[in-house]
Amino acid sequence: MAQSLFLLPGDGIGTEIMAEVEKIVAWSNGQGLTDFAIERGLAGGSAYDAHGEAISEDDMQKALRADAVIFGAVGGPKWDGVPYEKRPEAALLRLRKDLGLFANLRPAICYPALADASALKRELVEGLDILIVRELTGGVYFGEPKEITDLGNGQKRGVDTQVYETYEIDRIARVAFDLARTRGGKLHSADKKNVMKSGVLWNEVVTAIHKADYADVKFEQILADNCAMQLVRNPKQFDVIVTDNLFGDILSDVAAMLTGSLGMLPSAALGAPDPATGKRKAMYEPVHGSAPDIAGQGIANPIAMIASFGMALRYSFDLAELADRLDAAIAGVLADGLRTADIAQDNFRRVGTEEMGAAILRKLSA
Ligand code: NAD
Ligand code: IPM
Ligand code: MN
Repeated sequence: MAQSLFLLPGDGIGTEIMAEVEKIVAWSNGQGLTDFAIERGLAGGSAYDAHGEAISEDDMQKALRADAVIFGAVGGPKWDGVPYEKRPEAALLRLRKDLGLFANLRPAICYPALADASALKRELVEGLDILIVRELTGGVYFGEPKEITDLGNGQKRGVDTQVYETYEIDRIARVAFDLARTRGGKLHSADKKNVMKSGVLWNEVVTAIHKADYADVKFEQILADNCAMQLVRNPKQFDVIVTDNLFGDILSDVAAMLTGSLGMLPSAALGAPDPATGKRKAMYEPVHGSAPDIAGQGIANPIAMIASFGMALRYSFDLAELADRLDAAIAGVLADGLRTADIAQDNFRRVGTEEMGAAILRKLSA
């Protein structure tokens, strides 16, 4: 039976980079390597323009039913004035929450050919392979109260609530420990236990799980601010980093620049396995946004989007071999010297989104 992909290209460069994924799907279906049935929906500003909501109920239902959601990016200055509940980013947050996608895997790999494209010195990033495991459905993103109240004296109070319960920390920590076991065997947990009560609990829970069930994994607690600094000072000391929703958002943008560009970083957002079928709900999305500054020019880097589809092959469809081939194709075109503007270097061939996508597909099919 065909497996269903629900594509939500979104706004800005989201539509440009998703087009390159569609070409890869068409090829792999044509080769009989996959049997994907594709549906497309609207999310973000494009959905607001069409339906007056960041995502329609109909598209939410399709996302809930799909074997995997492939998400581009949402947002842009055009929608700066829309009500808070309907802003483009609300679509993304609702998808994550309603699909229960608590585990966000954000791998930062420095491709050998890009070691000189990083803002950091080659020796600091060459061979870099770290994985940030970001908690995605809790913390200050979703905690209540979340409001602005009028104090009546010409002042207002804005409140967001950072809150974590034991089970939320437990399940994300186990995902991270399990992944560390399959990689370098080392886990850092980043929190602010020196300031925040939620950080104290976070550390208590992760430390206890380590002791009880993962003593074979090397474990270290690290303060989140120090983690940001260490990522820039000596990133290769890290293997897997587990952290909360907000710190994970920030640390993964830092990690992206180690790889050369935000346009290089893919991600997978995974739910818990269904007890009956063992299948997880999942959404795959680049870490970057809709890049309004370059949207419409055909120059965006499609690699984060294509590699996110690669993560779908690996995590949702058990197609590790095809995913490996896709990663190798990406590494191959970079080694051949093709560069989009964001990773441009002197003496390398500058290409646009379509040409980069086509080159990756050519390598893949060679
Ligand atoms: P951004 O990630 O869109 O862009 C940051 C910078 O990186 C820009 O200079 C952009 O040109 C560059 N960049 C990003 N992706 C690139 C790519 N693939 N190729 C080449 N260059 C790339 O972040 P921002 O400018 O802070 O936010 C723009 C909008 O995107 C906002 O509305 C924000 O909320 C939204 N956003 C959405 C997502 C998402 O949908 N997952 C993620 C982050 C930000
Ligand atoms: C990300 C983005 C989102 C986040 C925004 C667009 C809601 O920055 O996926 O990193 O903050 O999680
Ligand atoms: Mn972010």
